[in-house]
Formats: sequence, C-alpha cells, structure tokens
Amino acid sequence: MCREKKKLKKPEIHLTADSGWMNDPNGFSYYKGQYHMFYQYHPFSSIWGPMHWGHAVSKDLIHWSYLPVALVPDMKYDKDGCFSGNAISLSDEKQVLIYTGVKNEIQTDGSVKGVQTQCLAIGDGITYEKNKDNPVITEMDIPNGFSRYDFRDPTIWKKKDGTYCSLVANRAPNGSGQVLLFKSKDIFKWKYEKVFIKNDFRYGTMWECPDFFELDNNAVFVVSPMDIKEENAEGYNGNGTLCLIGSYDEDADVFDEKSGHLIDYGIDFYAPQTVEAPDGRKIMIGWMQNWDSCNLRVDETDWYGQMSVPRELSIQNNRLIQWPIQELDDLRCNKVEYKNIVFTGEKRFDGIYGRIVDLEIQIESEDSQKLFEIFELRFAQNDVHYTSLKYLPGHNKVEINRELSGYERAIINKRHCKVKNQSGHIKFRIIMDRYSVEVFINDGEQVMTSTIYTEQDARDISFIVQGNIKMHIVKYDLKA
Ligand code: FRU
Repeated sequence: MCREKKKLKKPEIHLTADSGWMNDPNGFSYYKGQYHMFYQYHPFSSIWGPMHWGHAVSKDLIHWSYLPVALVPDMKYDKDGCFSGNAISLSDEKQVLIYTGVKNEIQTDGSVKGVQTQCLAIGDGITYEKNKDNPVITEMDIPNGFSRYDFRDPTIWKKKDGTYCSLVANRAPNGSGQVLLFKSKDIFKWKYEKVFIKNDFRYGTMWECPDFFELDNNAVFVVSPMDIKEENAEGYNGNGTLCLIGSYDEDADVFDEKSGHLIDYGIDFYAPQTVEAPDGRKIMIGWMQNWDSCNLRVDETDWYGQMSVPRELSIQNNRLIQWPIQELDDLRCNKVEYKNIVFTGEKRFDGIYGRIVDLEIQIESEDSQKLFEIFELRFAQNDVHYTSLKYLPGHNKVEINRELSGYERAIINKRHCKVKNQSGHIKFRIIMDRYSVEVFINDGEQVMTSTIYTEQDARDISFIVQGNIKMHIVKYDLKA
C-alpha cells in the first residue's frame, strides 16, 4: 500500500503522542504531585514498530506536557520492544516501572516469535534506569506448558502486609487466556504463586493488559480479551474490554468472580488502565483505537493513536459505571439549550453543531401509550458524510454507525448494545473531539466509543425521529 504522510491537527482534549505512533496507556499513576501517563510508543513513524515508552504528565488529566521517552528497547532482553506494564511508587520516593521485555526468536519454520519476560526500571518521574538484574520474571518461573510468547502486560500493587503482587497475562496450554499471580517481598525477586483468573475461552482467547483494584467495596478485574465471539459477549466480536466484579480475599489471594460485562460497546477502546486520584476517585483511560483497523490506514500521518477521555469509575448494581471526569466541565463554553421540544421527522436546531462538543440529550415518548420507533442523531455531518447514533426503544437497542463517515477501508464500522427497558426514556452524554465520539448512556451505565476521521468541515448535527418524542438538549463547545 502506498502511504503518504499527512499533517493532522491534534485532538482538542484527547492525549496523543507528540509525533509517531501511540497505543496502550502504561504506568498510569499519580506521582510527585502530577499524573503520569506512559504509553506504547513508536517515535520513528506513525505505524506500530519496536515499542518504546512515551511519557506525558498532567495536573488535571486534560492538559498534558511531554517528557523524554522513558524506556527504549536497547537491552538484550527487550531489544524487540518494551511492551505494556505499570508503575508503583516506593517508600524512598522512587518510582518503579514494571514492563514486558520482548526478544525475538527465530522458529524452526523460519517464522519469528517474541519471547516475553517481565522487567523493571527505576526512576524519579523524568529519567528511568533499567534494573541491572532484568528480567525479573521469565519462562523459568512458570509451569511447563504456559506460553513464553504470550506472557505480558504486568500490573502491580502492594498489599497491606507490604508484599508486592503482580498479575501478568498469559496463555494456558489450551490456548486460552489466563492471568498469573507473582509475589515479591522487595520488588526485585519474584516468585510465581498461581493462576489467579482463568478465561477458559469464555471471553475471547488471549487476555491482554490486566488491571485489578478495589472500588466501592468490590474487587474489580479489568482486561482486554482478543478474538471475542459475539455469542459470548452481548453481540460483540473481535478485541474488546471486559470487567469482572467480585470480592478479593487478600489473605488467601482468591478473587471470587460474581459478574462480568463488557466495558465499552463501541468500536475503538482497548487496554485501559486506572489511577487513584489524590481525592480518592478511580479514573480510567483507554487506548481509543482498535487493533483490527489501525494498521489499515491509507495515509501515514505525523501522529496516530489517541487516549480516551479520563472516566471516573463507580460500581452500581454490579456494573462498572463510567463518567467523564469533572475537570472536563471546566472546558464547557457557549451553552445552547432546548427544553421539552416535541417533534417528529427531521430537525436541526440553531446553535447545535460542531465537532468539539459536549452534548446532553434526554428523550422520552411524547405519548406514554405509544412508543416511538427510532431516534437518530447524525453528527460530523456534511452533504456527503455523517456518523449516526440510533436508539430503537422497541428493541432496547443503541447503535453507533460510521459507515458513511468517510473511512476508506471496509472495516468494522457499526456496533450496537442492548440497553435497559425504560419505555423509550433514555439519556445520552456525547463527547466529540476532532476524530472521536464517546457516548455515555444512562449516566454512564454503558459507553460506546468510536474514532471518526471525517473531514473537519463536517460539523452539522441533525435529529431524525420516527414517531413522536419529547427531547431536552444541552450543548456546550469544549475548549482546552
Ligand atoms: C495490547 C498490546 C499488549 C502489548 C502491547 C504491544 O494492545 O498488544 O498486549 O504489550 O499492545 O504494543
């Protein structure tokens, strides 16, 4: 494929690399008075390549400054990539990064596979030095038959008794994902404990990027499964995000899983990580892209890959609730509001347009005895292109569709999710930026995220209704 380099304006409120390629959030942490976001980074082009760790810091999770690259694949054990991992602060004020080192190995059939090991780097928030005894966890530490090629993305926490724990994603002998628990007294020497959680092909095959934390008196396990089958996951296929909610017995290291559901029902959201803010909020950011489509671009751009908006998490009724962090409210300006509008057919409203907006919409049937058939919102719209969000109350279904957004490749452009039955009543909060839309449904019970690379002059927003609805809209522009 012939690629031409295209200069793209950066998103207004979403983090990207300064230039080059970016994927997973790594080492998302609060350290020395600011948030640190490291990320999978290929500085030399906007296509995935030998992974580095890029590094940015922020006081408010919205305005970021870039710092020097934190990890470069320059050692024998990580020469083919410093893959995803996490960060933890030590009592002596140093910060430790735990990451996966990749070293390619030529197979007997000539193909290449990366052997994956877990490594450490110690730093001060700006400069990080690799541990001289890397790698600290290798294939030698795990039972026979567990994959040495799919063994990555460590997360880390410290228990109340001072023991460090790390969960590492792995592939079991049957090819399914599993997550392994390792423990350490001093963070440098690690011992394999056990298989902490098994997939057993329930949700996809290999699991990537585990995260594990306590939230609202629950233990929450977040992971990104590959190759999800729609029959197991509410109609969703491919790579996605999953959360399992349950309880954790810290003494016995047992996670008792009670329920599970997808985290994002849209097209582009993967490998999220969480941080605990100084005020106790749990905040999650994911990579706003999809592995199935990101390498099928027509043009090479000067940067590629965006992070989602930071989302505050809570648990209600065994669901992970996500809501844009309150810091985003400070970016709202130019409010336009329409209350109790009753209509049918197609409609546009003065002042309701734009590509960098925060839009709140509440809908209900105008006649409580007669449900409307379809509500459709079209946005990033011009004469040729638009993306649509549809709500079909009779089917309790919300659908996002970017088939007409101008994407050149025949990739996944449509997703749907089932929403609870509220007789036609639904709430949306829609955060749009230059190249993305994040739809928060019913106060964050469900979220659908999608990138949209429609030309920037496609700024119209229109509403199409079959049946009769009553609607309340509030729209703000967002300015960082
Ligand atoms: C997830 C992932 C990780 C890996 C990294 C490589 O998106 O595949 O498993 O560490 O990306 O860039």
